[in-house]
Amino acid sequence: MSKLVIVSNRVPSAAVGRSSAGGLAVGVLDALKRQDGLWFGWNGKIEENPAEAGLSTYRIGRLDCATTSLSREEYDAYYRGFSNGTLWPAFHYRVDLARYASREYAGYIAVNERMASMLMELVDEDDRIWVHDYHLIPFARACRRKGLRNRIGFFLHTPFPSEGVLRTIPPHRELVEALCDYDLVGFQTRGDAQAFLDYATRRLGLPLDADGVLRTRSRRVRVGHYPIGILPDEIQNKSKARSRSKLVTTLKQGLQERKLIISVDRLDYSKGLVERFNAFERLLETYPSHCGRVSFLQIAPPSRSDVEGYRHIRRQLESTAGHINGRWTELSWTPIRYMNRAYDRAALLSFFRASQVGFVTPLRDGMNLVAKEYVAAQAPEDPGVLVLSEFAGAADELADGAIIVNPYDIEAMACALHRALNMPLPERLERHGHMMQLLRDNSIRQWRDHFLADLEPLAVAA
Ligand code: ADP
Ligand code: F6P
Repeated sequence: MSKLVIVSNRVPSAAVGRSSAGGLAVGVLDALKRQDGLWFGWNGKIEENPAEAGLSTYRIGRLDCATTSLSREEYDAYYRGFSNGTLWPAFHYRVDLARYASREYAGYIAVNERMASMLMELVDEDDRIWVHDYHLIPFARACRRKGLRNRIGFFLHTPFPSEGVLRTIPPHRELVEALCDYDLVGFQTRGDAQAFLDYATRRLGLPLDADGVLRTRSRRVRVGHYPIGILPDEIQNKSKARSRSKLVTTLKQGLQERKLIISVDRLDYSKGLVERFNAFERLLETYPSHCGRVSFLQIAPPSRSDVEGYRHIRRQLESTAGHINGRWTELSWTPIRYMNRAYDRAALLSFFRASQVGFVTPLRDGMNLVAKEYVAAQAPEDPGVLVLSEFAGAADELADGAIIVNPYDIEAMACALHRALNMPLPERLERHGHMMQLLRDNSIRQWRDHFLADLEPLAVAA
């Protein structure tokens, strides 16, 4: 019987559920945990001779996981170098933080080749293969060279930049050509898919059929947008179940009846944390009635700490939070609580439910699952308000229910916080009901089903 094979750089560990900070692992697991399949990728370890060490295998629910480690050289070139030093910043429009080294690009290609060789041993002829994210753009190309003919789909969890930005990555053409070795290329938003199509048609000169299918010499490549979702009702139940937990009681005791603004992100420069801290301070300056009456909790576990841009943003945040707290703290009130730790998901959801405002303001984000989780975790009879960046993919769906802000506009963000903190119940109910409906209509199950249906072979053109 044919099986579904998932390939991604990050694979949840066997001890899953405790603190998987990262949209890919959380989303894909929610989508697939109840079906049979194989998940293949990196186990997060660095070892001297990974090819010789072979695969580690374990099960999560009905999924078989098979993982490999990376050597130090591979990790430096493929993960820390080209993936997170070149592609990640450029795909998030931070060309000022992107660097390029041909040696790292060569390492990126080599790891894709090695992982493709390992996968060859695990797939059968009629398996469908679903590859995830920017670490593995050349994966299908490597598989095709080794003779694999299976249907292979690719989904990008990050934004895909417009041509002007994409061209700052020296091997931009090769990357887009490599994407054309997939049968299906999926993006989070219509804008991302369009940016890819613009490049493929204008720069590569590929013809595009009316139904969004690119024609290359060897295949027809379907291109589409598949906004990743969540399981809204499961999240609502989880947040309710934990709403009287010890952690929530402690949180509420610390707040002493004050309102709570909450943000939860990996500590990443794409998330707009500094601008967010500044907007909170501007709220206190512009609307002093909030002083002493509202606290801001930012939970941000460190991520990719060995990449320079991440070390820098961490220092910057520590100094910004210290500066703001130094200026505003009173004996009985600390305005910003800034925590660099991960919590288990159920705890986070219960914190969301205990807050009045979810403050989600990335400078650029593929989707941002936290925005969706925040909405789903609310008590439907007394929901909090989502303040959301227009540059998160989630804004395409949630624009009518959230207060949409430009994260570069500190004053406007302060106004939005003030509005959210004062929003009357009927308006909150209406906005929340609207967003919940959208989340239900486009849950993670629809995302999976829609993508996998489109991965099926195309009807032969007349
Ligand atoms: P990204 O994929 O860039 O990290 P997303 O918002 O799309 O951003 O996904 C982040 C996922 O990781 C969410 O499911 C969120 O609940 C989880 N997460 C984020 N921060 C934490 C944290 N501090 N502790 C545990 N889980 C977290
Ligand atoms: O969703 C974006 C993403 O980059 C995933 O690809 C990744 O797994 C996650 O964030 C966390 O980053 P990392 O895998 O580098 O720890």
